[in-house]
Amino acid sequence: MTVDDGDYRVARELAHTLALPMLESGVSPVDCTQYDALLLIGGDSLSLQQTGSAAPGPVAVDFGSSAMRHRRGAGHNELLGRAVGVGKKPALQVLDATAGLGRDGFVLADLGCTVLMTEREPVVAALLRSGMLRAQRANDIWLRQAVARMSLSQVDARELEPAMLAGMDVIYLDPMFPGRVKSAAVKKEMALFQLLLQGTAGVDDADALLLWAMQQPVARVVVKRPPKAAWLADRAPSHHIGGKAVRYDVYVQHKLA
Ligand SMILES: C[S@@+](CC[C@H](N)C(=O)[O-])C[C@H]1O[C@@H](n2cnc3c(N)ncnc32)[C@H](O)[C@@H]1O
Repeated sequence: MTVDDGDYRVARELAHTLALPMLESGVSPVDCTQYDALLLIGGDSLSLQQTGSAAPGPVAVDFGSSAMRHRRGAGHNELLGRAVGVGKKPALQVLDATAGLGRDGFVLADLGCTVLMTEREPVVAALLRSGMLRAQRANDIWLRQAVARMSLSQVDARELEPAMLAGMDVIYLDPMFPGRVKSAAVKKEMALFQLLLQGTAGVDDADALLLWAMQQPVARVVVKRPPKAAWLADRAPSHHIGGKAVRYDVYVQHKLA
């Protein structure tokens, strides 16, 4: 972790929480050979950057970015909304059990859902929390209203208290990373995720996560998959909604009402 003076206190707390060493301010990710990646605090933003001269730029959560604004009007947001059942019941309660950098969670909140996100990887959760704080303070009513419908718990979804699941309508899962991506921004994030998730069991337990989700008292479970991927846990969904880049498998357990 490296830091500017004004952010020193925030950085110290975060380093303590995440049990990470804190570096002198001014250490450049390009020159750093000691670590694979650095968390950087600057102003109101937390970002993560791989080290080394060929490493791509930092990754941060910015719900107000032009990419997120562009995504608003894009077709796959509509697909996601249809998959979870937006419009079938007002103010759907969604558990986004694999929050990651929160893009899908934000899209769902923007579509009017109340979204509880769980993210078990502490550094990813810290990046997401920082992006949420930034959106809460933004000078943009759209961002503030959407993020007000989001909350985050840094746990494995399967460890949530049953009370947190009571009243939930949908569990949404996006456990997988796409096999082939064209976008440089997504490639950069994937490289970082692979670094971060090396040590967790996360990569292979998507099947178990679906089976857990199907045992919860929710009307539907929705799984995001690459278009040609096999069903998770070999369970055929009730139906699926497919786009060019993504497929949503919908497991209907009972009617949304
Ligand atoms: C592909 S990313 C999700 C991306 C996310 N949908 C987005 O739009 O940014 C998957 C994330 O799920 C997290 N994850 C996987 N299994 C989990 C579980 N059982 N509980 C909580 N988080 C989990 C991983 O740590 C990873 O950050």
